[in-house]
Amino acid sequence: MGLERDTILEARGIRKVFRTGSEELEVLKQVDLEVARGELLAIMGVSGVGKSTLLHILGTLDRPTAGHLSIAGVEVASLADDNLARFRNLHIGFVFQFHHLLPEFTALENVMLPALVADQSEASVRDEAAALLQSVGLGKRLYHRPGELSGGERQRVAVVRALIRKPLVVLADEPSGNLDAASSQNLHELIRQLSREHQQAFVVMTHDRVLAESMDRLGHLEWGVLRMEAASGSKGDPS
Ligand SMILES: Nc1ncnc2c1ncn2[C@@H]1O[C@H](COP(=O)(O)OP(=O)(O)O)[C@@H](O)[C@H]1O
Ligand SMILES: [Mg+2]
Repeated sequence: MGLERDTILEARGIRKVFRTGSEELEVLKQVDLEVARGELLAIMGVSGVGKSTLLHILGTLDRPTAGHLSIAGVEVASLADDNLARFRNLHIGFVFQFHHLLPEFTALENVMLPALVADQSEASVRDEAAALLQSVGLGKRLYHRPGELSGGERQRVAVVRALIRKPLVVLADEPSGNLDAASSQNLHELIRQLSREHQQAFVVMTHDRVLAESMDRLGHLEWGVLRMEAASGSKGDPS
């Protein structure tokens, strides 16, 4: 690990107001956040507090009402929509609560898709996707369709699909929300292992205390403000 902090995501003064008819809903008032390369960060908050809203903003899927977001040193607001889509595809991976795997495609094809969309050659992508699936214990499930996998297996496919483009940041929205305790524990270990191996940062929205405490840092989203707390210590080895 280098000595200086290598910031890959920085959010300053993020505010988000939704307008529906004459109603205004200020979901995010003032969110400040800095994420270092390879860092694991959890954000907890009760249902409806704005976790998904914040995740969409950090992932450039939605624009904030006010505030600045820079990723990999690029001020996101300065990118026009088509460049933004390319930028997102290159640097950001997503894992959603519901896996969003395509049912007609095999596990291997599902993992390959984001890279194929980005015009990488099929042969190299195929090898890489197979290796990733192998690394999460799914080497014997390459040709299974989502319907032929367990919930935990589907979520592991969704996680490695988020990694195939080697994004700097992976944003996960309640990734263990639909998993039993054992599968969710496996998923947490997988996230730690992958982040160590690939120096990828993870920002995980969750209301799972166990998952949150296994990350490097933990923040609480409340009343539109993000409050970071000191890590509780269960970080694994410091290498
Ligand atoms: N597109 C939208 N338009 C209006 N209100 C929204 C929109 N998206 C979310 N909200 C509201 O913002 C609040 C936060 O939602 P969300 O970010 O999904 O919370 P969480 O993920 O923490 O459960 C909720 O009250 C929700 O109803
Ligand atoms: Mg949500």
